[in-house]
Amino acid sequence: MAVKFYKCEQQVPLEMHKVRMIQKLSLLPVEERLKKIQEAGNNTFLLQNKDIYLDMLTDSGVNGMSDLQFAAMMQADDSYAGSETFNRVKAAVKDVFGCENVLPAHQGRACENILAEAYVKPGMVALMNFHFTTTKAHITRCGGSVEELVDPKGLLPQSDDPFKGNFNLANLSQRIDELGSDKVAFVRVEAGTNLIGGQPVSLENMLAVTDICHDKGVKSVLDASLLQDNIYFMKTREARCKFMDVKEIYHLLADHFDIIYFSARKLSFSKGGIICSKNPTYTRQMMEFIPLYEGFLTYGGIDVRTMEAMAQGLYESLDMEYLDQGPEFINYLAKELSDYGVPVILPAGGLGCHLDCQAFVPDMPHDQYPAGAVAAAIYIAGGIRPMERGSLSEQREPDGTERFAELELARLAVPRRVYTLSQLKYVADRIKWLWDNRSLIGGLKWVEEPSVLRFFFGRLKEIGYWQEELAAKFRQDFGDSL
Ligand SMILES: Cc1ncc(COP(=O)(O)O)c(C=O)c1O
Repeated sequence: MAVKFYKCEQQVPLEMHKVRMIQKLSLLPVEERLKKIQEAGNNTFLLQNKDIYLDMLTDSGVNGMSDLQFAAMMQADDSYAGSETFNRVKAAVKDVFGCENVLPAHQGRACENILAEAYVKPGMVALMNFHFTTTKAHITRCGGSVEELVDPKGLLPQSDDPFKGNFNLANLSQRIDELGSDKVAFVRVEAGTNLIGGQPVSLENMLAVTDICHDKGVKSVLDASLLQDNIYFMKTREARCKFMDVKEIYHLLADHFDIIYFSARKLSFSKGGIICSKNPTYTRQMMEFIPLYEGFLTYGGIDVRTMEAMAQGLYESLDMEYLDQGPEFINYLAKELSDYGVPVILPAGGLGCHLDCQAFVPDMPHDQYPAGAVAAAIYIAGGIRPMERGSLSEQREPDGTERFAELELARLAVPRRVYTLSQLKYVADRIKWLWDNRSLIGGLKWVEEPSVLRFFFGRLKEIGYWQEELAAKFRQDFGDSL
């Protein structure tokens, strides 16, 4: 139940935890920030953490751990095979999802590699609401391709649709029929659809997808990495979920999906990854790849202490007082910005607040990478590190032509249980300033473009001197402030 403020106009989201360990931050002067982003090839992945005030690159592996997670790490049972720690992870997965069959892998993309190795053969198609970068890279590496079937309404930057990650169900049925079920590697539902702004999928839609898959004899896979935010939205936006217990929702999903996997860097506030299923046939089919790529079946490339944190974190993923902190902070930031006129993805989703960069710099052509340019400008404006989630995050078509993204987003991820509200207010303030000075933002061009997952380590150069002008304007407006 929400805690109401007496002065309701001053209501803000309220943390149900306190901070007992801290990490010192530093904020460099704007002239240094300008130098650092240019040295990093205008790629926020290539910035050093010591040069960043607020790291909003991702919510992955950077969430706040609880006292109980740290305590659990002390009891880790370190053995190559048959560790008690893995039994505790299995027990937690069984409790939370109701699945007995559990495979560990070192992170989410490692689970995707195993899935692709086991089920994607050349010429096969994986159908999904929307791709995720690493998911697509593994599927295409195995000779398959990805088709996206998100309802087109999900791609509208601003709407009042509560579940913008939903599948277009008619298209899903039709596409399976057209392809033939033997050509469909699997249907993947991504909870909290990352690349379109952390947008949720309704329980009704997820269950309808699994019904279609069962009818047509196609495997259904749930990417549950962002499920905890998705469950928050189910509970707050979907009538049938309002009175359901959180665990009931996890169990219902596990009853319906053939395979569930997740990045524990998100779900469970820890690190690592898990593939699980109620049906041992699936885990048997994937099992042989675990020792090959990850490690023995009872650690899967994950350190035992991390597995203990994961087990405890999974139980915490059932607690609405933890689940709501991320989405409510994100909603606060999105509202602050949109009330000022800054174009953000609405309704706010999970994982982060997303700026709609096509509207932020409407005259900038796609091939000057508007989302990358805005992300670099945000670092200059405030020492804040966002992530580009637009055309730079796409991969080129096999013939080398650019595949421009449907949405050009700069993501301000809000790691769970990490930042305070005053820090989010600072973010809003610096972005409002940038919005007022958006005419200064110019484009980027490639200097070094890797052929795979180029956004991770590619380098770009600013076109002209817009970054120097932006830094000079900051100094003029803020005087001697950092
Ligand atoms: C929906 C989704 N699936 C998979 C992954 C990959 O997980 P990991 O970063 O642990 O490899 C991510 C990471 O951001 C994600 O958001």
